[in-house]
Amino acid sequence: MSGLFSRLVATAVLGLGVLLGVLLGVLLGAPAALAAAAPATLTPVAQVGTTPRADQPAAPPDASTIPGYLQQNNGERAQVQPGNNAPMWREIKQQSGFTSLPDPEAGVLIQPQTAYPGSSLTTAGEAWRQTRNLLLIPVGGWLLILAVVGIAAFYLFRGKIRLVHKPTGRKIERFTPFERFMHWVLAFSFIALAVSGIVILFGKFFLLPILGATLFGWLTYALKTIHNFVGPLFGLSLVIVLLTFVRDNLPSKTDLAWLANGGGLFGGGEAPSARFNAGEKIWFWAGVLFLGLLAVASGLVLDKLVPNFPYSRGAMQVAEILHASATMLFMAMAFGHIYIGTVGTEGALDGMRTGYVDESWAKQHHALWLDDIQSGKIPAQRSGAKAQSPVPVIKHKA
Ligand code: HEM
Repeated sequence: MSGLFSRLVATAVLGLGVLLGVLLGVLLGAPAALAAAAPATLTPVAQVGTTPRADQPAAPPDASTIPGYLQQNNGERAQVQPGNNAPMWREIKQQSGFTSLPDPEAGVLIQPQTAYPGSSLTTAGEAWRQTRNLLLIPVGGWLLILAVVGIAAFYLFRGKIRLVHKPTGRKIERFTPFERFMHWVLAFSFIALAVSGIVILFGKFFLLPILGATLFGWLTYALKTIHNFVGPLFGLSLVIVLLTFVRDNLPSKTDLAWLANGGGLFGGGEAPSARFNAGEKIWFWAGVLFLGLLAVASGLVLDKLVPNFPYSRGAMQVAEILHASATMLFMAMAFGHIYIGTVGTEGALDGMRTGYVDESWAKQHHALWLDDIQSGKIPAQRSGAKAQSPVPVIKHKA
């Protein structure tokens, strides 16, 4: 059984690794490609003004002189391909004009394709659309599915990590009310963003067929609005949580020993750790700080909340790809965090729920932290004594 288990875990880890690699490739490669897609000097091409300026290129030939144009537009196309108005857009792309609007792209009706010369894609917008639809959505979707399946398989084979010794009844303060409040603001805003984000990106595959276009349209519109407003709240609580927990997440030598025995996740007991173990520290730095800040920064660009930001189409496309990549990796990591903090570890949620953990739990999972409290190095009660008295009783199932 344990051989099968380790093979399964290894396969899941390998699969996740490959997916993460591909996603990171997109993360690192796409911005450059899409930045290149943004025209360096924009040529106004739209017919906005009335009289073209002297420095404007000569007007293109009448589109109706293009071979097959009239045939395409004399009703034949409307019958064979209803809704296909490609000739109209082809004509628009060839129009030139000028505008006095200060926006650098105000005169550009269709973003020119400069990123992939020789490719069959006709516009940079199409290049972005295909990156999103053909790469980000399938890779991200599989990443999330694999994360859930991997966690479920881990639970099936490893089960809950139980308390080794019976609870003593002596309670140790783990989180102050302020720490808990900020954590839950962050967690609930994250859940609202994750649910709405998943519907925005993947809803058309699994909800649209069930709900139908009208209901799905209204639902997605409502969720998109919620997403736009909860984002900044998430960003604010993220920064506060980062500042609150940064000190206890600084790396230390003891992290290596913890990592070396896999945090006891695969059996063999857990190496002693301080207030946060190496696994939590990886979540803090790689997840909450790096992916969290990337998600918030790109989200604020998409919300157009960053003052004086050059909101070109190319920049928005880069922001969208960064946002989707960072948030999907972040969600995959968050699933692991939520699992370990709830069903994965007996007694872990008590700390975040009540502020207190049992001494047995502290000894088993954070022995160095308990030592520091018992030796008086860390104050046993960091919130005001009145704030949480009497100490809540935590019930554990036998
Ligand atoms: C329903 C969702 C969540 C649950 C049930 C949950 C549960 C927990 C628990 C039980 C702890 C305490 C672990 C311990 O005592 O060592 C914890 C810590 C923490 N959680 Fe969550 N959490 C959730 C969502 C989130 C989210 C979405 C974030 C960040 C975006 C987050 C960030 C943190 C941080 C930063 C810590 C402190 C430990 C560290 O710095 O690594 N949590 N969480």
